Amino acid sequence: MDARSQDIAGALLAWYDRHARTLPWRAAPGEPAPAPYRVWLSEVMLQQTTVAAVTGYFTAFTQRWPTVADLAAADDGEVMAAWAGLGYYARARNLLACARIVARQGGTFPDSEEELRRLPGLGAYTAAAVAAIAFGRRAVVVDANVERVVARLFAIAEPLPAGRPAIRAAADRITPDRHAGDFAQAMMDLGATICTARNPRCLLCPLSQDCAACASGEPDRFPVKPARTAKPTRRGRAFWIVQGGRVWLVRRPGKGMLGGMRALPDDGWQARGDGSGEPPLAGPWRPAGIVQHAFTHFSLTLHLALYSGSDWASLLPEDGEWWPLGRLEEAGLPTLFAKAARLALAAEGERKP
Ligand code: ADE
Repeated sequence: MDARSQDIAGALLAWYDRHARTLPWRAAPGEPAPAPYRVWLSEVMLQQTTVAAVTGYFTAFTQRWPTVADLAAADDGEVMAAWAGLGYYARARNLLACARIVARQGGTFPDSEEELRRLPGLGAYTAAAVAAIAFGRRAVVVDANVERVVARLFAIAEPLPAGRPAIRAAADRITPDRHAGDFAQAMMDLGATICTARNPRCLLCPLSQDCAACASGEPDRFPVKPARTAKPTRRGRAFWIVQGGRVWLVRRPGKGMLGGMRALPDDGWQARGDGSGEPPLAGPWRPAGIVQHAFTHFSLTLHLALYSGSDWASLLPEDGEWWPLGRLEEAGLPTLFAKAARLALAAEGERKP
């Protein structure tokens, strides 16, 4: 291990001695490891979930099923019900399958990363975490928190996911041979409490002297996020219906996009093809152009149609309201529909010079 790596590991372990979080599945720093069953159970629960969400479940499970043999003997439905609320239910099914394999093998978990990997539900991360925390094996434990800490320490500029092998190699360099469990959990605690995704608290960080990202002045630039992928496009239609200087506006349902906002009637924009949803009146309609709008998760191409008939009677008062065109600014239309209204007014202006 090179001198810098030794400094980093030493500083982190010293910090952990003083600042380790007290968690029900943990031994205090330097103390003998907890039962592998408890380490394994906590690590499976902590996949995709936060410490705060897991704590109550961990306590309930270990009271009800204190050993892996107890869990293996449990009724499937009862375990699934006890898991309810933790999400990602495949984890609970794998948990039971794993418990039953381990129980059949005498109730003892294997102590190497390689053998742990073969059990249901144990991926690279979980196998490494259990090997290090329960068995003190040197293992490179990289979860999202650790990834962030390491990417910052070495200012790894390659964006994720391509940067992962470099991050892993750097994590490997600084992982000590001894105290592997404490080291892994110290990295997790540092990532969760100090080296946070936003506004990292570098002034309190035991590694700030060694940290390239901190030296750069912009630690939260790391890890570099992948270039954003193109958003999906949705299509839809919106309908402009005018009678006697008033336009027909609706109130959008409380849930969903632009929930509770006043709007032009539309077709729900679910269409991925030609946007041919149902208009609120039979027609005739004439096209008035297209509004492009970017939402966070998709782009919308909205085809605007102007009503050119005179059969307004089938618009029911409970479905909308006639809003004076002269007061359209006050309707509080969200940007998408404000753009559509401008387009409609321009199109009507062209027709009636
Ligand atoms: N997240 C995943 N495993 C953890 C652990 N052992 N301690 C704290 N946070 C964790």
